[in-house]
Amino acid sequence: MQTNTMPAAASVLVTGGAGYIGSHTCVELLQAGYRVTVLDNYCNSSPEALARVERITGKTVQRVQADIRDGAALRDALRSSQAQAVIHFAGLKAVGESVAEPLHYYDNNVLGTVRLLQAMQDCGVEQIVFSSSATVYGDPVRLPYTEDHPFAPTNPYGQTKLDVENMLRAQSRAKPHWRIALLRYFNPVGAHPSGLIGEDPQGVPNNLMPFVAQVAVGRRQSLNVWGSDYDTPDGTGVRDYIHVVDLAQGHLRALDMLQRGTGGQCTAINLGTGQGCSVLDVVQAFEQASGRKVPYQIQPRRPGDLPAYWADPSTAQRLLGWQAQRSLHDMCADTWRWQSMNPQGYASPVTA
Ligand code: NAD
Ligand code: UD1
Repeated sequence: MQTNTMPAAASVLVTGGAGYIGSHTCVELLQAGYRVTVLDNYCNSSPEALARVERITGKTVQRVQADIRDGAALRDALRSSQAQAVIHFAGLKAVGESVAEPLHYYDNNVLGTVRLLQAMQDCGVEQIVFSSSATVYGDPVRLPYTEDHPFAPTNPYGQTKLDVENMLRAQSRAKPHWRIALLRYFNPVGAHPSGLIGEDPQGVPNNLMPFVAQVAVGRRQSLNVWGSDYDTPDGTGVRDYIHVVDLAQGHLRALDMLQRGTGGQCTAINLGTGQGCSVLDVVQAFEQASGRKVPYQIQPRRPGDLPAYWADPSTAQRLLGWQAQRSLHDMCADTWRWQSMNPQGYASPVTA
């Protein structure tokens, strides 16, 4: 049983809290007794997600519709919520779009975080959990990735994550009272077991699990498997898929670490399972969990894809006392429940 020592009713500002990972984290925060204020501009999410967070938890989320580049709105939100800490999810995450529109990504992800840190400094809020990504490591020189693996992001999105990490490391050196956790997520998938919240991508999903789910529910005809000639057990790409509820719980453990001051001043932590699964493993597990066929065709490799990578999750175990609990079957079963209860995502009426 994992517990948190932060006093009940501690207040957290969650930027990007209406998004996929943010909404699941809000559920865990509220259930653990935190007061939660979400600041989001809804550029890639729906306020409906927060209504459903409230439905799951029976608790209230304070909402501020604002952009993280708006310093005045941030200061207002930090002061009115009396936040002791920030969990910073807000950002853009589409790799292809970051290649096409790099300035938009630097503006949103890097400048947005500069504005957030300035506002925190102005308001005396000195604890932050940042959503980083395994994408900062780039081409593996060894596996599993440990946190000291060299950095080599291969696209502007990944570069913005590394830039923000570097900025936070510099801030930590300059301001030794700050406490900073850099959480490097592997491949978040799955949904809350209630089926009320989940991932709701706009347009054609780029990522594997939402695409598979949309094939299973009949929204798309078949899956393209990008490459079957990699040096992996079945030739398809291998990733470390992690259930979004496990990931969300990792954030509570990180907040706890910052509060206790046990994890150092600025600490990078992988959040993954430590297990690699192939594309065909995911297809098979999804078919079992859903009872639906997922037709697929093998296609050429997707440009820019890495063959295989997975996490060394031992730092999370050591510093957070956290490890992923949920299996690939759980990830698929929960994704399927969300997808089948909400075939059109948050545009679907609530059926439970
Ligand atoms: P998401 O798009 O579902 O959520 C991001 C949220 O931030 C959305 O609600 C969006 O409206 C909001 N937002 C974006 N720019 C904003 C701005 N300028 N001001 C205010 N709100 C803004 O994405 P997610 O999957 O929940 O990811 C959350 C964070 O985790 C992101 O920073 C992402 O880069 C990072 N991350 C995600 C993954 C993944 O696979 N999902 C992997 C590694 C890291
Ligand atoms: C991508 C992003 C990464 C981001 C992660 C979020 C790139 C280059 N990287 O990683 O920055 O953090 O998503 O989880 O985009 N696949 C198919 N068919 C599909 C979709 C995917 O076969 O329709 C395969 C891919 O080739 C890969 C695996 O499934 O082997 C996972 O792909 P995806 O979900 O897109 O994640 P990543 O490529 O790991």
